[in-house]
Amino acid sequence: MLGKKMETAINEQINREMYSAYLYMSMSADSTFKGLKGFANWFMVQYHEEMLHAMKMFEYVSRQGGKVVLKAIAEPPQTFESPMDMFQKTLKHEQFVTQCINDLLNLAVQEKDHASQAFLQWYVTEQIEEEENDNDIIAQLKLVGADTAGLFMLDKELATRLLTVPSDFSKGVEAAMKAMGKA
Ligand SMILES: [Fe+2]
Ligand SMILES: [Fe+2]
Repeated sequence: MLGKKMETAINEQINREMYSAYLYMSMSADSTFKGLKGFANWFMVQYHEEMLHAMKMFEYVSRQGGKVVLKAIAEPPQTFESPMDMFQKTLKHEQFVTQCINDLLNLAVQEKDHASQAFLQWYVTEQIEEEENDNDIIAQLKLVGADTAGLFMLDKELATRLLTVPSDFSKGVEAAMKAMGKA
């Protein structure tokens, strides 16, 4: 059974994960508009990952007897200066999310909620990967600099990123992940 404080805090995080999905969807749209199809692909895969993050919490709250409460999702920025601008904003956003996950885990410890502590560990590990991916691409963008041929090559590389998370949650997250051999 989920305590009220924890329930409210996870519901807030569901909204942040949905905003993350929306933000990366917006970056994908802007990339497509500018002819950067590889970047567009990368951000669309990221959109799916964020939806998975939200849906895992959605399912957890329900399974623990809590009530999922969905609030309005804020409007994301619609245009970005450059691929570097997008990835710097992505990294900054992920660092914020990492802090939010840490705060959630601190609350779970404070509330002596062992189930939520175990559940949130998955997100702690996930955030390491998220920040690492962004840092890697920022490093590559620094190497590319103003070289358009380099940017073209990087765009081609990002076009190869494949969706490795389930996108059909109609039967639940755990079932979808099992079907993909991920749980
Ligand atoms: Fe996330
Ligand atoms: Fe993320």
